Amino acid sequence: MSNAAATEPAAPLLQLSGIDTYYGEIHILQSVDLHVKHGELVCLLGGNASGKSTTLKTILGIVSPHLGAVVYDGNDVTRTSTSERIRRGMAIVPENRRLFGPMTVLENLEMGAYLRPRGDFEEDLDRVYSIFPLLAERRGQLAGTLSGGEQQMVAMGRALMARPKLLLMDEPSMGLAPILVERSFEIIQEVHQAGVAMLVVEQNANVSLSIADRGYVLSTGRIVLEGKASELVQHDELRKAYLGR
Ligand SMILES: Nc1ncnc2c1ncn2[C@@H]1O[C@H](COP(=O)(O)OP(=O)(O)OP(=O)(O)O)[C@@H](O)[C@H]1O
Ligand SMILES: [Mg+2]
Repeated sequence: MSNAAATEPAAPLLQLSGIDTYYGEIHILQSVDLHVKHGELVCLLGGNASGKSTTLKTILGIVSPHLGAVVYDGNDVTRTSTSERIRRGMAIVPENRRLFGPMTVLENLEMGAYLRPRGDFEEDLDRVYSIFPLLAERRGQLAGTLSGGEQQMVAMGRALMARPKLLLMDEPSMGLAPILVERSFEIIQEVHQAGVAMLVVEQNANVSLSIADRGYVLSTGRIVLEGKASELVQHDELRKAYLGR
């Protein structure tokens, strides 16, 4: 037994408890309980409009819950600003990448590092370029002129520039050709193996469960299934619940 294992914190890195959210009158998330342990890779599955992106926005503080608590790294952050949560180590690869199109690849990566100490910039940039050598070659290209797969690399690289403790990813495989889906999941695994905790939203249940430790399934704002990824994969109801709206 290593000392690291003995001193591993018992509390999860992220805990959502009894989360209810509304957009105006419309009740979206209903009593959502979800956690991510230190270093864990968790996937959040669900059909369109089931509340997956709303869950990530609640974790980041872009959406405020009506009820419930978000506890992160030992602190209740339910009323903490998004910028403060990012400062404390949350990062997101948003839905549809959301790059700064008229800025270069390098400028987009710099944006990811704006809360990091300046002295670490070159080292962080080298790390990102070693994961995505193509970004080094294309550092001067405008992000808006990159292909979809290349933009996904910039979006992931930008999030990694912040050296996150908790990386949130919203449908990383969206719009990518099968070979690039495979590549982006390999990269997700590499980042996970480097010790970063991740919550990955996906509609692609097979691929994401094949690399995750645990998973949750959302259906119309409720968690309807949860468990170890290896058990969820075999679950008869997964398909049914997953496709339900
Ligand atoms: N700002 C908003 N105002 C009003 N309704 C919203 C808003 N954002 C999302 N919704 C609604 O909340 C529901 C859940 O949306 P959300 O984006 O969380 O779903 P999702 O599971 O990420 O879906 P998708 O797979 O299509 O991305 C949807 O019915 C959506 O129309
Ligand atoms: Mg979404």
